[in-house]
Amino acid sequence: MPAQSALTHRTLAGYLEAEAAHDGGLAALILAVAAACAQISGLVARGALSGVLGVAGTENVQGETQKTLDVLANTILIKAADASGQVAAIASEEEDDILAFPEGERRGRHLLLFDPLDGSSNIDVNVSIGTIFSVLPAPSAAHTVTAADFLQPGRRQLAAGYALYGPQTTLVLTIGEEVATFTLDPATGQWLGTDIVLKVSPSTREFAINMSNRRHWAEPVRAYIDDCLAGKDGVRGKDFNMRWIASMVADVHRILNRGGVFLYPWDAREPDRAGKLRLMYEANPLGLIVERAGGAATDATMPILDIQPTSLHQRVAVVLGSVEEVARVTEAHRAA
Ligand code: AHG
Ligand code: MN
Ligand code: MN
Repeated sequence: MPAQSALTHRTLAGYLEAEAAHDGGLAALILAVAAACAQISGLVARGALSGVLGVAGTENVQGETQKTLDVLANTILIKAADASGQVAAIASEEEDDILAFPEGERRGRHLLLFDPLDGSSNIDVNVSIGTIFSVLPAPSAAHTVTAADFLQPGRRQLAAGYALYGPQTTLVLTIGEEVATFTLDPATGQWLGTDIVLKVSPSTREFAINMSNRRHWAEPVRAYIDDCLAGKDGVRGKDFNMRWIASMVADVHRILNRGGVFLYPWDAREPDRAGKLRLMYEANPLGLIVERAGGAATDATMPILDIQPTSLHQRVAVVLGSVEEVARVTEAHRAA
């Protein structure tokens, strides 16, 4: 079948006009975030030519060294969100505290959260990276927003999405009940809808985990992965394949397309930390997308989206993807 002309695809603006008709502010905010992602995509595509490789020489609140692109993407998203006039406050992986408009100057009913650049270790080696975002309702306009106003369970998200800067730049978005995909047309800078249906198959033969941490895992995780590795001769009775891109957006995008299970569990390297990944701007938005595409997302004990956050940069263990595998891991933890 010949490739469909891009001209026949629906634009993101057209999609939002229909899907978010009840909330023009939300549609405007998503368009602003998508425009920022298109700008980041342009910088990523030019790589060394746009001077975005290497480290910025600073640290974020998580104690991680910031890459040049972490800082640039963060600035681009903050500017876009501010200019949209639709946000009351912003939270970012790269900002210690929230950025809130003072009472009287508030311009929107939404809280925007993002991981400006996911997969930072892949920037300089030209491997897929992304941007993750989440939108929560802002409290009533009676007071200046505080960090406490952000501490809402993921199920309250009004929208969630990610841009994946891979061989193509793809935007995956959920606002209503469905998950929609758009591709950036580099010729026009437009986001065009594609009819790719993202559906996480209930069963899989593929897992994603950083195997180098095996000796630090809790026993249920080790037992689960060992059973997968035993293949058709073991209790699972089937062979498993493994993938680990080290950009959560890219690993999740693969799972949305062809199934699989992704784990970033608690481990003994930092026993007081629930996991490596962040609840509010990594696990919650990707968890919502995965659930809406028919998959599951837990912290190995309960659905990610039901967790009541206690702090902005809170860590969480993540097990997401095909429901049968997520259930198996979750059951193993409950039984332990
Ligand atoms: P970030 O670049 O935003 O800090 O996130 C990186 C995360 C996630 O995308 C990925 O799955 C994980 O870190 C990779 O961790 P390892 O380096 O331990 O494999
Ligand atoms: Mn990240
Ligand atoms: Mn990041």
